[in-house]
Amino acid sequence: MISNILKISARNPGLSWKKQYKRHWFGGCSLKSNWMNALSTTFPYAERFFIESVKQYQSQIQDPELAEQVKGFIGQESAHRVEHDRFNKLLISEGYPVKKMEARVDKLFNWVRKNPDPEVKLALTCALEHFTTILCTEVLKTPAFHEPMQDEHKRLWCWHCLEEIEHKTVAYDVYNSIKGSYRKRIIEMIHASVVLWLVLLTTMMEYQRYDGRLFNLKDWWVLITWGFIWPGLLTRLIPNYFRYYKKDYHPSHMHDQVLIETWRGKLGFNKKD
Ligand SMILES: [Fe+2]
Ligand SMILES: [Fe+2]
Repeated sequence: MISNILKISARNPGLSWKKQYKRHWFGGCSLKSNWMNALSTTFPYAERFFIESVKQYQSQIQDPELAEQVKGFIGQESAHRVEHDRFNKLLISEGYPVKKMEARVDKLFNWVRKNPDPEVKLALTCALEHFTTILCTEVLKTPAFHEPMQDEHKRLWCWHCLEEIEHKTVAYDVYNSIKGSYRKRIIEMIHASVVLWLVLLTTMMEYQRYDGRLFNLKDWWVLITWGFIWPGLLTRLIPNYFRYYKKDYHPSHMHDQVLIETWRGKLGFNKKD
């Protein structure tokens, strides 16, 4: 039987998007808004890939608790796809060439799909899930990374982050259940570390270009300070990022039950599931 704290279920975040929102919805800052916009552009494609790579092993899972968690994982990631797709449509209505950027991400994942080894695809999912977990933990833990967002945006990102932390062990446990190799897990983390940041940076720069701010020195300074100095979103990821390279690493080593319960409460969900 699954303990309450590990119960993973898909929820409707109840987003209406009825209000008028500013184009630069993250505290009026184009750089921060466009960084999150770039993340949102990749999510529907990345999450489809995560679901597929876990599903390919679903029928082989013996542990009933893990089988239940896999259903929850698929439910949550499917809901994230839908909500980010809705959000990306808002970005289209702002005039951003989202379709063009999405096509590039889609092409990349289609190329990865051609790899005939399902274990490699699951290893890549584990690596990308590690990135989402550590990023989401920082977003929820530090007010500077969510407070300046406008209401509906804040709800979208905090709901998504909460569920990423809730299901952080699932892909990894499926990988362990098929006796996935340490070598492939690390190789795929190295691939993910290079490609993910290149994709995010180029997509963010494209948003900046359409805002006419690609060569805005103030924005680049924001990227350096906000990302690397204070509050240093990206610098804060470093210790948790390197945990993944330990041979005995498991996502449950990052203790965030209190964070989960706190945010379930703040978002108006039942604290225990
Ligand atoms: Fe997700
Ligand atoms: Fe996820």
